[in-house]
Amino acid sequence: MILFETRNRITNPVEEISPFMRDVIEGLRKTPKELPCKYFYDERGSILFTQICQIAEYYITRTEIRLLEQILPEVADLIGENATIVEYGSGEGRKIRNLLHSLPNPKAYVPIDISAEILLDSARKLRKEFPTLALYPQVADYSSPVSLPTAVTEHDSGKRVVFFPGSTLSNFSPAEANAFFCNLHSFLRPCDGLLLGADLIKSPNRLHQAYNDYDGVTAEFNLNILQRINRELRGNFKLHQFEHYAFFNPVLSRIEMHLISLIDQTVKIGPHHFSFSQGETIHTENSYKFSLDSITRLGQNCGFSHLRAWTDGEKLFSIHYLQAV
Ligand code: AVJ
Repeated sequence: MILFETRNRITNPVEEISPFMRDVIEGLRKTPKELPCKYFYDERGSILFTQICQIAEYYITRTEIRLLEQILPEVADLIGENATIVEYGSGEGRKIRNLLHSLPNPKAYVPIDISAEILLDSARKLRKEFPTLALYPQVADYSSPVSLPTAVTEHDSGKRVVFFPGSTLSNFSPAEANAFFCNLHSFLRPCDGLLLGADLIKSPNRLHQAYNDYDGVTAEFNLNILQRINRELRGNFKLHQFEHYAFFNPVLSRIEMHLISLIDQTVKIGPHHFSFSQGETIHTENSYKFSLDSITRLGQNCGFSHLRAWTDGEKLFSIHYLQAV
């Protein structure tokens, strides 16, 4: 199987500094300090995230899977035959398998993920379950513009549909979300589609609980990024000297996750030193929450017409079908 490498790896041949090291140094030199949330997902972080998806307070995964199952017949009607499905963040694969099973004769599947391992694993499983489906896994992260391999674009008679579930869009700033939508639009033709899962604005207390679960799995997930820095970048963060802090920011419609220093301290990462004062924060993640209108507007800005939106009975989560015009 060929893995199409679409991401430009920027390495500095003089200092030979890894992208992870570069991003960590850059983030911790900012005021307020920050770390990119994509670095949550090392092996342990990915396991913890799978656990988060099963937590009672974390309604997102459960609600999306159930909603998607209900609406699949309608989605299949909109997408039609011989479709090419492009998925960002191919994950553990349950949603895509349900989708592929419901479609009439899907032609190709292009999973895009930052982890080559995850891609190969899910491709191996799908190969057995869908022997006639053409698979084109691509290694890339969401922030870099993606183009489709010519093997895909030369032969697609059906629709190209981008599947972007899990409210991964939540991690994008409004500007990044806009750039992402416009990039998608650039490789879609009129009548191609975008099937999108987006978490909804709701009771702030309900949101708060989802990111402050009783068993502390989300706290562990957040703190794991410091452990990863310790291990991979020779850091000496003392995890008990930082605390997970997550809250809903209603002005910006987002959950913010932070790691807050409990004392004045200095942390070493390789040859670099970073000082933290008591109460100082590292901003590790934003998780934006949407309204049906905000998704419609986002689409319209980049040339999509908003064909359908579905929500669960409690209006916790939404799935959208947008069409390129
Ligand atoms: C993967 C971005 C959808 O924001 O709910 C879960 C990540 N962070 N708990 C989310 C996450 C903490 C998740 N997304």
